[in-house]
Amino acid sequence: PAKKIAVVIGSLRKDSINRKFAHEIIALAPESLALEIVEIGELAIYNQDLEENGATPPQAWTQFRQRLKEADGVLFFTPEYNRSLPAALKNAIDVGSRPYGSSVWSGKPAGIVSISPGATGAFGANHHLRQTMVFLDMPLLQQPEAYIGGAANLLGPDGKLNNDSTKQFLKKFIDAYAAWVEKTGKQ
Ligand code: FNR
Repeated sequence: PAKKIAVVIGSLRKDSINRKFAHEIIALAPESLALEIVEIGELAIYNQDLEENGATPPQAWTQFRQRLKEADGVLFFTPEYNRSLPAALKNAIDVGSRPYGSSVWSGKPAGIVSISPGATGAFGANHHLRQTMVFLDMPLLQQPEAYIGGAANLLGPDGKLNNDSTKQFLKKFIDAYAAWVEKTGKQ
């Protein structure tokens, strides 16, 4: 059966460039992967008081954790906010990492695609996210790296990729990620 991959997008806006690229990659993915977007916009900002000392955690946290637990791997799409990852994405990671000892991230093969209309391809966000992956013990695909710069110009008015070399690169990336999931994921 296909491996279930949670696609987590670090932008909440409906016209997100990151979301458009996520849809492009989903369409290019091999049959060995079943990619599903898991939304992060409804997650309350992490606060231990909401789930400790007998408190019932917010339902959105519980649902998010459940979706991630069922996933065999995680593919992140991140914009860059002030040379780092957006707070909404960091919050989702924090929510999934708790309660202590039951992180949903541990051991799941991960990939990162960072995307910006700017020239640097959201490199800062990509690498801050990598730092967190190390602590969360996620085996992270190293090559090819995916820093998509000038990304607004790679999409046509219909929101679809207008560019064959980018499409080829995304295909190469998702195939490498599929091989990574086979190699490092749970059998
Ligand atoms: C940005 N943007 C941005 N871009 C970049 O390349 N480096 C950066 O450090 C920042 N900083 C930043 C901070 C904040 C608060 C916002 C709202 C935006 C611009 C950003 O790349 C642009 O808005 C993208 O379109 C965001 O991605 P989505 O929402 O289109 O997926």
